[in-house]
Formats: sequence, structure tokens, C-alpha cells
Amino acid sequence: MSIQHIQSTQPRLGIVLGSGMGSFVESFDIEAELPYGELGEIPASTVPGHAGRFVLVRANGIPLLIAQGRCHLYEGLTAAEVTAQVRVMHRLGVQILVLTNAAGAMRADFNPGELMLISDHLNLTGTSPLLGGPHFHDMGEVYSQRLCGLMRQAALAAKIPLHEGVYAGLLGPQYETPAEVRMLRTLGADAVGMSTVLEAIQARALGMEVLGISTLTNWATGLKNEILCHHDVMAVGKQSAAKLSGLLRLVFGLNLNSETELEG
Ligand code: HPA
Repeated sequence: MSIQHIQSTQPRLGIVLGSGMGSFVESFDIEAELPYGELGEIPASTVPGHAGRFVLVRANGIPLLIAQGRCHLYEGLTAAEVTAQVRVMHRLGVQILVLTNAAGAMRADFNPGELMLISDHLNLTGTSPLLGGPHFHDMGEVYSQRLCGLMRQAALAAKIPLHEGVYAGLLGPQYETPAEVRMLRTLGADAVGMSTVLEAIQARALGMEVLGISTLTNWATGLKNEILCHHDVMAVGKQSAAKLSGLLRLVFGLNLNSETELEG
């Protein structure tokens, strides 16, 4: 399906799916799909669990552009490359961008399998997609308070526990040491991951409204006696996909296709 077709539908709402969230797409009838490779500007992700394509679905008649898979700095890419996807989505008409990710929980009162609304972030990647300009962009409200409010209401209505907190975005690709997790806690972070912050910065610089949600896939290093691995992270991410799609459906009035059952 061509980029012109997607552009002609003017999708206002876009969603970037994090690790293990790919199945979110299956709850919709797919109208069009476009592999990133056909666009030339978005690098292919080398990470398992990250398909590389845009999928256009209609939800309640409303076009929704889903980015199934993202690439990361730790794949050896630049901040500009990692955020090309966001610029393409903006060009295709997206004004509201939902960024989802898998993250490690750094609070004992958060549990793997639960969701965290990102209230703010720490960009600890050491880089920015805005190198070279625009300079000095305001970052006072990266994550839209309006959309956070809608998510809180949806979570209450659906009786889905929804934590809130600060997401620390690190370079990776290794998971953290216990000392690093203690440092991140001291800095005020509640969850840790290796994505999202650069995309959110880019989106805000383009004037998009951003919603960020972490699926807490594990306790961060040192909180429990666990060895972290990507396979387990993906498995928990997959289990949380249904909760997340339920919330997003409520927030944006999305209508899922008839075969799909949602659970809380
Ligand atoms: N640390 C960093 N990134 C992650 C984690 C984590 O514990 N879990 C999922 N992504």
C-alpha cells in the first residue's frame, strides 16, 4: 500500500508499539501496511519483537497509524535516525502520538505486568534529536496533561491499575547495575528503559501532543533476585498488550474488530 494512500487518510492519531506490544495491531482490521524499508529514511530494527512497518487501521471509522516496531540508539544509530519514524508520522498527519514501551519498575509498589503513565522523563541518553536545531525548545510539558487525565479516567472506568511516574531513558543496550538503579531512584525516576525519550522530544518539537505509557515488564536490577533477559521482558509485554489496548480504546473511542475480546 502506498504512502500516498496513508497520507490521504490524514491519520491524526499515531501509536508507537514497544517490545512485545506488536500484537496490539491484531485487535484491528488492517487497511494498509507499509514496511519502513520502502520509505528509505527509517532504519530497520535489529531487535527481536520489533517488526518494522506502519499499519493503518480504521477504528470507529477514524484512521489510526500504528508503528509496529522502533529502532534504538543502542543498535548503533544516531538520535536523528531513531526519531525519523516520528517525523514521518508527523508528515503523514499525526498530531497525537502515543509512545509505548517496556520498562523496568524501580519501585517496590509497582509490579511487573502493570502499566505506568509517564508523567515526565529523564533523558539520560546523552544525546538529542534536536542537535543542530531547533534549539532551546520548551520541555515543560512533554507528556500531555490533557491525555494523562483521559487515561486516568479510562483506567478508573475499566478498573485497570495505572501507576504514574517518571521514566528514565538510557542508552543501553545492557540492563542496569544495582548501583545505577539506586542512582536513578535518587534522581527521581520510577521506571527505566532504553527508548521513548528521544521520540517524545522530537514529537514536542514538531508540536505534537504526546502520551507515554510503560508496560512494566520486570523489576529493575537489584529490586528482586532476578536475572533480566529480553525474552522474559517480551513475554510480560505481550501479556499487558490487552490491558493497554483496552485503555487506549476507551481514551480515543476506538472500536476493535468483532473477534477480539478484551480483558482487564
Ligand atoms: N532496564 C532497561 N530497559 C528495560 C528494562 C530494564 O529493566 N525492562 C525493559 N526494558
